[in-house]
Amino acid sequence: LWTADNIIEDSIRAVRAKVGSDQVILGLSGGVDSSVVAALLHKAIGGQLTCVFVDTGLLRLNEGDQVMAMFAEHMGIKVIRVDAEARYMAALNGVADPERKRKIIGGLFVEIFDEEAARLTDAKWLAQGTIYPDVIESAGAKSGKAHLIKSHHNVGGLPENMTLKLVEPLRELFKDEVRKLGLELGLPADMIHRHPFPGPGLGVRILGEVKKDYADLLRRADAIFIEELYRHDLYSKVSQAFAVFLPVKSVGVMGDGRRYDYVIALRAVETIDFMTARWAHLPYEFLDLVSRRIINEVPGISRVTYDISGKPPATIEWE
Ligand code: XMP
Repeated sequence: LWTADNIIEDSIRAVRAKVGSDQVILGLSGGVDSSVVAALLHKAIGGQLTCVFVDTGLLRLNEGDQVMAMFAEHMGIKVIRVDAEARYMAALNGVADPERKRKIIGGLFVEIFDEEAARLTDAKWLAQGTIYPDVIESAGAKSGKAHLIKSHHNVGGLPENMTLKLVEPLRELFKDEVRKLGLELGLPADMIHRHPFPGPGLGVRILGEVKKDYADLLRRADAIFIEELYRHDLYSKVSQAFAVFLPVKSVGVMGDGRRYDYVIALRAVETIDFMTARWAHLPYEFLDLVSRRIINEVPGISRVTYDISGKPPATIEWE
């Protein structure tokens, strides 16, 4: 019988049998899958688990602090936080091509994770939040973006010379099952029902070259949009919503003068499978409020637009 309880009991037993008294490391991203693995392994093997959380500088506002607050402080899990913002910005300096950005971001993640893993000399196992759809996708070895999606933190992105053995307790589960497990393990509903966030993060939501200043502006605009979606009870009615940074200067008026500042595009979609999507018909009053707040509260942004493109032909992300 499938109940979250049974699955948890079975998984705990299986993990204990597999890893024994060995040390295990896990790359914690703050996303649903790795978070559920963290909670599950903590329950199964407690202090044998060490998580590595890489703050790429391409995460959402305060995300690093939130991950640390929940997993390290609240749950008492060992989490090593790596502040890698400067490294990411240096690696991305001058790079405008989206696929090159993806490769750099994913590659650097593996490199940094490797460095941390090498320090944990006792670790014998690498835990991963691989879920059943990831297994199918990587077996199909699709080309292009679909393949890259899973090659970032997931199945395909492992160093070839890896000496760690893999433990993947969610490998047979679908996303909705993983969510149920997470709730049962006591993870907050908000985090379990968060919209998907791409591995390359804000790196593909800043069009063209990535700069720290751009990321800081985008984070603030995005946080306002998401905060208002929650406040208006719209967050769970859309499948994915976010802001995009357009590095073009558009004119605005301020007092007697004119100013030339950047543009933010808002994107919200409704979809079942993320293969096709329609743009969410958010209320005008809501969009008006979000636009005003962003322009008033984020100096450097003078214009806000709303993306009304469906997929296909447009993709959900802008890059
Ligand atoms: P697109 O833009 O292809 O996005 O319509 C479909 C879904 O995939 C996510 N996405 C990514 N996820 N790495 C990821 O982990 C990526 O490089 C990537 N590109 C797009 C996107 O957020 C949406 O949910």
